[in-house]
Amino acid sequence: MKKASYVLNIVLIAVLGFFAYKFIYDGNVATESEDRIAVVLTAAEKAGVLAEMRGLLETSQAVILAASSDDVASIPDIVRPFGMAATANESITMMAKLPFELKTMGHDAHRAMDDIGAMAENGASGSEIIETLAGAMTLCVTCHATYRFVAEEEMN
Ligand code: HEC
Repeated sequence: MKKASYVLNIVLIAVLGFFAYKFIYDGNVATESEDRIAVVLTAAEKAGVLAEMRGLLETSQAVILAASSDDVASIPDIVRPFGMAATANESITMMAKLPFELKTMGHDAHRAMDDIGAMAENGASGSEIIETLAGAMTLCVTCHATYRFVAEEEMN
């Protein structure tokens, strides 16, 4: 339990750190102060990926809650919609716009959700699951520090 709360703290600090970063540095930004790579999508594609992102955050929160409250059995159903199944309907046109490294990290993040589901089905403990999730969340952190999405309609 001690280990679980230690790992839980790291996960929460990582998530808070991400939002603190966005809050402190992003504000009402001008592009000169932005060093992340802008990936240009259509407004609809951008809305779609951001909705998927909010789903990933919700899923991570739900997994932490289930794993820390002795409800590992509910985890496979929580993660399944955000595993590789979530990528099945992604358009080839949009995939072509994503840099290779971003595609790889996105793929790994979805696969991690499936791995967590499989761990839960195979009797892993809550703290093992939180530890795996914390490891997988370094993908969220790294990708967010490197890329941002820009809608082509927002450009002049
Ligand atoms: C492959 C890259 C990548 C991975 C992996 C990734 N994200 Fe994102 N995420 C992004 C980008 C790019 C943005 C847009 C940031 C911007 O434009 O400033 C974003 C935005 C978000 C947002 C904001 C959504 C909104 O409505 O504006 C949330 C929340 C989020 N991600 C959560 C997560 C979580 C949680 C994970 C890991 C489980 C994750 N992301 C993994 C690339 C990624």
